[in-house]
Amino acid sequence: MANDDYKRQAAERALNYVEPGMKLGLGTGSTAAQFVALLGEKVKAGLDVVCVPTSEATAAQARALGIKLTTLDDCPDLDLVIDGTDEFTNDAMLIKGGGGALLREKIVAAASSRLIIIADASKRVETLGKFPLPVEVVRFGLRSTKDMIIEVAAGAGCVGDIVLRLGPDKQPFVTDEGNNIFDCAFEAIDEPDSLDMMLKMVPGVVENGLFLGMAERVIVAGPDGIEEVESPDYTDFDDLEEAP
Ligand code: A5P
Repeated sequence: MANDDYKRQAAERALNYVEPGMKLGLGTGSTAAQFVALLGEKVKAGLDVVCVPTSEATAAQARALGIKLTTLDDCPDLDLVIDGTDEFTNDAMLIKGGGGALLREKIVAAASSRLIIIADASKRVETLGKFPLPVEVVRFGLRSTKDMIIEVAAGAGCVGDIVLRLGPDKQPFVTDEGNNIFDCAFEAIDEPDSLDMMLKMVPGVVENGLFLGMAERVIVAGPDGIEEVESPDYTDFDDLEEAP
């Protein structure tokens, strides 16, 4: 089976978490797009949900499918976000931003009670960092910002090539928020919390693609079937209520 089929399987499973009347966040990327397509079918069949997209691309897809859209300004508290990822660990730590939407994705995820990630099994890693970490930066002072990223990353034990992402036109890639992205090939991020904290101290850095302790679970589809990898921080309050 191809990765696209696994992405669709994970997206199908995620529909189980969607309930009528929910305020949903819609992720970005090829896996999230599968979920949006399936959600579009449900909406056509009568499901009533309202959604905040995490990128212009997702907004366009959802709009074309007749999915009701809103903004975080009009709807600041979401019930659930379904999004993809570039990497995940067995404790549901993530690297996101390969598609360039990490900033809006993080803002939308932070505004939601729950973040559920959908992925094919090829995204699973022991240690984050094989996928180059995207770091979103303002366009002013790129060189100084890069130098500071190198410095603080080394302080967190991370060394590797840092390159300015280019778009298909070979010009610097510009995010939906008008920023650029450095892709940082650290290979292994042994202390993600400290790297995240250090990167946040660099003035030109807007956000980075480490999503730590944000995802409740990762729905993984692969040759061995579908598995749900729960965050160790996750508590199922329904289960607690049912306990004698
Ligand atoms: C978008 O910025 C990313 O965070 C995506 O969610 C991530 O890159 C996964 O994309 P794919 O589903 O296309 O692999």
